[in-house]
Amino acid sequence: VTSPLRIGVAGLGTVGGGLLRLLRQNEESLAARCGRPLQVVAVSARDRSKARGLDLSGLRWIDDARALAADPEVDLVVELIGGSEGVAREVVETALRRGVPVVTANKALVAHHGPALARMAEEAGAALAFEAAVAGGIPIIKTLREGLAGNSVKRVAGILNGTCNYILSTMRQTGREFADVLGEAQRLGYAEADPAFDVDGVDAAHKLALLAAIAFGRQVDFAAVHVEGIRAISATDIAYAEELGYRIKLLGIAERQEGGISQRVHPCMIPAAAPLAHVDGVFNAVEVEGDFVGRLTLEGRGAGAEPTASAVAADIVDIARDLRVPPFGLPVAGLAPAATRPMDSHVGCYYLRLMVVDRPGVIADVAAALRDQDISLEAMIQRGRDPGEAVPVVLTTHETREAQMRRALARIGELESCLEPPQVIRIETL
Ligand code: NDP
Ligand code: HSE
Repeated sequence: VTSPLRIGVAGLGTVGGGLLRLLRQNEESLAARCGRPLQVVAVSARDRSKARGLDLSGLRWIDDARALAADPEVDLVVELIGGSEGVAREVVETALRRGVPVVTANKALVAHHGPALARMAEEAGAALAFEAAVAGGIPIIKTLREGLAGNSVKRVAGILNGTCNYILSTMRQTGREFADVLGEAQRLGYAEADPAFDVDGVDAAHKLALLAAIAFGRQVDFAAVHVEGIRAISATDIAYAEELGYRIKLLGIAERQEGGISQRVHPCMIPAAAPLAHVDGVFNAVEVEGDFVGRLTLEGRGAGAEPTASAVAADIVDIARDLRVPPFGLPVAGLAPAATRPMDSHVGCYYLRLMVVDRPGVIADVAAALRDQDISLEAMIQRGRDPGEAVPVVLTTHETREAQMRRALARIGELESCLEPPQVIRIETL
């Protein structure tokens, strides 16, 4: 009988709990696929007395997760604590230093320390796997790194945060408020420990930085990702988007362009007929464009216990089968410098919503600010009449450069008749 692969699981929250259930429920088929049993032998979390609805009998409880990572009777460490620093990082480093393979769902950790961790793994001859870190249950890392290895990737783009997609689609479908829907996403186990990471776009930026590194064979460069979240998206914008034939989605987009790689996460208006416009709720979708494969889209649940456990289990199976691939698809020394293109050079169309005083001459001032930056208007909506009061004015533009748009917006924001900072949403044709 082949000896079991002895697994230590650090973190028994949403994902850790899901993983324990999956490994138990699919125990036999996993053992058959791996050629050896997968056996969880030790677990760790913060609070031993917490009710988890998990059967932990027969498993060693280790109070300090770092001790679990150092335990000689653990062959593989699964880190499901979270956070780019602190215990999670120490757990991963402790295991890698002693040559023990690590599976993690921690995109914050890998986005900040990926190359250093990959180097540690390389030096120790241990695997480092993080399929669950990007887009929950969608096997996008394996797809990019292995399935599309024959391609030169031009672009990778998609809906990368389940919490934001759940919030935006529920707001659109029900007219409910942002805060109310966020609470629901948290209860469903979709949100990060600090949901600001979700709604401010940081979580999607962590994921995009990982995808860009793998897709383009570059060092992870999280600091270079342009990040905007969804807090400022109002029911009014969602209604105008609908009227203009768009849907609002938080997208992460990384593209190979002249002068480098652009990486951006921000709310986008996308045509209502585009496939991504119909990816709703906790679902994520990632589109990849390669020179030989053309365009390919993967869609699935991007967060939650079961889908994420599915991705963690896939990495465990690879390790149990002794399948080895460099974490970023190339040895660390072969990863090119990031070479990021600044957001100022982005070219695209824009939606602007201004809250302005209803009086003569206001639109002329706004139009002058746009004209002086060579920005051409595509459409304008101003409805209702409320002399002296605030009214929304919505404008859409033809293609323009971000730097010019920012200069125009600064001038519009200074107009005494403009009562709120202008709302800006980039339009993506996809
Ligand atoms: P949870 O907050 O649900 O779980 C975190 C777990 O870590 C808890 O069991 C907690 O213990 C434990 N923990 C916290 N601090 C320590 C510590 N110092 N020592 C030991 N254990 C500790 O998080 P999730 O399961 O949602 O997320 C885990 C990881 O997976 C994160 O990196 C997250 O980004 C990632 N992820 C999450 C997804 C999701 O849908 N939730 C999807 C994809 C990735 P206790 O239970 O005792 O409080
Ligand atoms: N909080 C993340 C999300 C979890 O909502 O997408 C999955 O990575």
